[in-house]
Amino acid sequence: MDGDRAIDPWSSEGETDYSRIVQKFGLQKVDHSMLPNPGMLHRRGIVFAHRDLDVAVRCIRDSSPLGVLTGLMPSGGMHLGHSMVIEQVKWFQEQGADVTVAVADLEALATRGISLSDGRKTAIEEYILNYAALGLDPDKSSVYFQSSRPEVQRLGFKLGRRTNLSEFEAIYGFTGDTNLAHVQAPMVQVGDIVHPQLEEFGGLRPIVVPVGIDQDPHLRLTRDIVAKTHWFNINSRKAGGLTISLSIQNDNAEIFGVEKGGKINREVRADIFRRITQIIASLGFADSISNPKHGTLVVPGATNSDRSLIRFKLLELERDMGGLGLMSPCSTYHRFAPGMTGGKMSSSKPETTIFMNDTYDSMAKKVRRAVSGGKSTVEEHRRLGGDCSKDVPFQYLEFFFEEDDSAISEIKREYESGRMLAGEMKQLCTERAGEWLMDISEKRELWRGNLDEFLAPDSN
Ligand code: TRP
Repeated sequence: MDGDRAIDPWSSEGETDYSRIVQKFGLQKVDHSMLPNPGMLHRRGIVFAHRDLDVAVRCIRDSSPLGVLTGLMPSGGMHLGHSMVIEQVKWFQEQGADVTVAVADLEALATRGISLSDGRKTAIEEYILNYAALGLDPDKSSVYFQSSRPEVQRLGFKLGRRTNLSEFEAIYGFTGDTNLAHVQAPMVQVGDIVHPQLEEFGGLRPIVVPVGIDQDPHLRLTRDIVAKTHWFNINSRKAGGLTISLSIQNDNAEIFGVEKGGKINREVRADIFRRITQIIASLGFADSISNPKHGTLVVPGATNSDRSLIRFKLLELERDMGGLGLMSPCSTYHRFAPGMTGGKMSSSKPETTIFMNDTYDSMAKKVRRAVSGGKSTVEEHRRLGGDCSKDVPFQYLEFFFEEDDSAISEIKREYESGRMLAGEMKQLCTERAGEWLMDISEKRELWRGNLDEFLAPDSN
């Protein structure tokens, strides 16, 4: 459908060169030694890139508030590909983060013509049920619907002033005949990502958004827009140190002491700079040089590593003065597990992936037919060994079913040495997947009918 393409301008197909993606999109690489308790997806390099993950990690280390936001498209069945984001969410939750889940019912309506009531049913009975079965903690999770949270829509609308059609054309490939619901959907997603920072949803704190790499355009858009709302800019100075400057806009000109004719009210300005100077001093910088008339304050002793703390304090000040005071979202990106048939996983092609409620037989059939990294004859395989980088059953063990790192290394060694055959790999994968699916289906039955615990008060 054209709709899907418009929202996600490029697919994972042909984009498997992850280091190129990191470069092209200006991401940072994840080094799992930066994480306090790296999970399986981190240790295996499956979560490979991030933006500002260090900010989130600092919250974990300091036990300061951290939020996670994830969104789901209530369409079709949930499969293994969808479970990866939930594994990431769960990890942050285990490290103390609160979790918000957006049901993208407006987006599903806009891009796939799914009615709000069908979207709601699919979201709860298919997705949230499986999230619960995967172990999301209801006491620290809150699920809402885009269509019934006015704050999200209002924020999306407000922030729409900070972008324009040309930008949407460039990011999403929209053209003159793109329908307007499609154009609105990304702004609602911006609202999703940013709104947990509103006072009524937990207040100012970093929000991390774990996603597949296909969602990065939305994160770039959100970060660009958020940066444009800031009342204070922070820039590095050539001579060393950081410069804080006022970003004068329609909504803050008066508060920043710009009078009708453009004259600057010195008292108002001086007061603002007293407050900034105080903040800077409280962070331990004895020295600062302010120029209220030009609207700048230089902190010679500050370095780039002080930036996020200074930013945080200035956002508090911005809120105090009447601004939105929004942080840029942090994000993490996982690689895509390959489809069973070698290409990409797709909900509309059930043979390409395993669904959460596949029967054992249907799963076993898919694994049997999966692309293998084995050689064409047993003799050749014994002599040359199998290729784990091409073997889908191996990769499913690595991505989903085998948590034990030493077991994975052992399997890899056995396969690459030729001692283990392709059929044996498939057999192992089938066994593990069978146990995994059985466990999930038992847990689903425990949760069915009890999902209200996950739903936010405004979700009725
Ligand atoms: N656009 C996402 C998808 O296609 C769904 C979504 C909506 C989302 N809001 C979000 C994802 C916020 C992450 C964060 O699946």
